[in-house]
Amino acid sequence: MSIQEELTATIADLVQPGKGILAADESTPTIAKRFKAVGVESTEGKRREYRSIIFSTPDLGKYISGVILYEETLEQLSLEDVAMPKLLASQGIVPGIKVDKGKGPLVNAPGDEITYGLDGLESRLEEYKKLGARFAKWRDVFHISDTLPSRQAVKANAEVLARYAAVCQSMGIVPIVEPEVLIDGHHSIERAGEVSEAVLREVFKALYRHHVDLETIVLKPSMVTPGKESPSASPEQVAEHTLMIFRRAVPAAVPGIFFLSGGQTPAEATVNLNAINSMGYHPWELSFSYGRALQEPAQQAWAGDLANADKAQAALHKRARLNGLARSGDYSP
Ligand code: 13P
Repeated sequence: MSIQEELTATIADLVQPGKGILAADESTPTIAKRFKAVGVESTEGKRREYRSIIFSTPDLGKYISGVILYEETLEQLSLEDVAMPKLLASQGIVPGIKVDKGKGPLVNAPGDEITYGLDGLESRLEEYKKLGARFAKWRDVFHISDTLPSRQAVKANAEVLARYAAVCQSMGIVPIVEPEVLIDGHHSIERAGEVSEAVLREVFKALYRHHVDLETIVLKPSMVTPGKESPSASPEQVAEHTLMIFRRAVPAAVPGIFFLSGGQTPAEATVNLNAINSMGYHPWELSFSYGRALQEPAQQAWAGDLANADKAQAALHKRARLNGLARSGDYSP
């Protein structure tokens, strides 16, 4: 298969009706936070147990087309001693990998951050591909205040995101392009829209500059919502603002927009996606690439005890199924 054929085949497998992506790529410090919330100490063994349980959920492939993994998981064996990417592939699910190296302060831009990880990216991707990864993820982060993000942060982050995407495509790996506009703060939905539009426009300018093929990326953005400290908006308001901004800033050539949940509750993330898919014409597939909104109930049900495996799987199955319905606006609470 040529590189182009590989990219096209992976997009076809990822962007399917009724399906979305499960983001299970929490870094070691992040998964420790999630486990702590359900009273579990994060050890390599516990991470392996938990992820092995959720990836073995019966029928997961009916609603989930891809799973994003963290490096450790890509190399781990399931509880039945099957390589995790192989376990996913046996469910008809495409394995993917988070490749950015986290973020830190952007120098001379107080309050803004920049994502690391371009150095050595090609050789890491080569290894990941051998282990079964067919797509990758890179996350940029933008903070909102009256003055943030700075122009400098918007441009610098768009540039690294585009360079990452270009490298991935040159190796036959589909890039998930994730510019996350954070929900933290007390801003209005209008302010979130303004920032999202500026970020998306800059990201697509950078992708064009780096000759990234828009037909073989997946965009993973935040929905346009008010800040977490502000009164919440109705699903219809979220859908209206999100679609207005995306129609302006995202080319129709992009096959799929797979939203992150970004701190929305599992129920909110489902009703908001449902409202977005219920509203008017849109040229892209609108789906989910949720981490917390898919996994929180499963983590609570598991609570670190293998005996709760069935309950954890049932909890994940339920969220995946409901978001699968929201994918076509067919969810009703
Ligand atoms: P959340 O849905 O929990 O925001 O996670 C998605 C993700 O992959 C963030 O990078």
